[in-house]
Amino acid sequence: MAKYLVTGAAGFIGRSIAAALLKRGESVRGIDNLITGKRSNLVGLESMEFIEGDLTDPRQCADACEGVEIVFHEAALASVPRSVADPAGTNLHCVTATLNLLVAARDAGVRRVIYAGSSSAYGDTPTLPKREDMLPNPISPYAVAKLAGEQYMRAFARVYGLETVVLRYFNVFGPFQDPTSHYSGVLAIFCRRMLAGEQPTIYGDGEQSRDFTYIDNVVHANLLAANAPAEKVSGQMMNVATGSRITLNETFSVLRDLTAYDGDAAFGQPRSGDIRDSLADIALAGELLGYKPIVNFKEGLRRTVDWYRSGS
Ligand code: UD1
Repeated sequence: MAKYLVTGAAGFIGRSIAAALLKRGESVRGIDNLITGKRSNLVGLESMEFIEGDLTDPRQCADACEGVEIVFHEAALASVPRSVADPAGTNLHCVTATLNLLVAARDAGVRRVIYAGSSSAYGDTPTLPKREDMLPNPISPYAVAKLAGEQYMRAFARVYGLETVVLRYFNVFGPFQDPTSHYSGVLAIFCRRMLAGEQPTIYGDGEQSRDFTYIDNVVHANLLAANAPAEKVSGQMMNVATGSRITLNETFSVLRDLTAYDGDAAFGQPRSGDIRDSLADIALAGELLGYKPIVNFKEGLRRTVDWYRSGS
């Protein structure tokens, strides 16, 4: 019987959490519908019990939660532009799926659900850094959907006594992030293109900034959230990031050095639903979880480029 369930286990963040749990010798079940997750991401996770299933089906949620103590809920259609193109699909796989999972977790007697929130919930307000006590201001269907999931977490903690912890991730990157879709994260796309000697496109003037967060920091925060005392963390939401930001233009020039790409970037129209700047205050996760980043941006980017270069 698995102690841990990871949803989205064939996706970038889910598979990374599952790998860390397995490395600790834990028993893990993973579920993924393989819409954006990939079977190839399961390589190395052979000791995980894997269900190819969809959280939009309540029965599959029930099967996945059976006997489990802690759920890491990473499954989502994680893309702002994808949600602009298909808001109903994003709602189904982010909101309905989350609600189904929570109902199944409650009914199965799961103790704690840890949820992948999104910094997009803060929207385009000028105040930086983003603190958890700021009012949400979602500006894309994706941000609305991820925020709705957060609210369901809180409600299930209040109403049913399920322990829930929301981690608001800021632009996560690293090995196993899919670089092949135009819905992919910018660093994955840029690494792949620049290593192949192909020109990347910066949408807008490149002066937008992000608190890019290396995957190991996110895995670390999740493991801390699983072990933190309920009195401290249940029903809470906190940022998970590095607490520093870099513009896309600066990022491009760091990547030029790391990849040995010697061309320029192309510039295209700004993307609809994009926010300008993003930077997290990470004090709350420090206070509640003892979290601080373990890998900085440049080191993370170096490891990421090495991983894409190795053709893994
Ligand atoms: C958003 C969310 C983030 C979420 C992610 C899922 C915010 C602050 N963050 O990130 O929480 O997890 O979506 O995808 O809203 N870009 C280019 N060229 C490209 C691709 C992207 O210039 O080829 C630009 C985008 O226009 C954007 C920036 O890079 O300005 C980052 O884009 P992306 O990696 O998709 O993430 P966000 O939209 O910031």
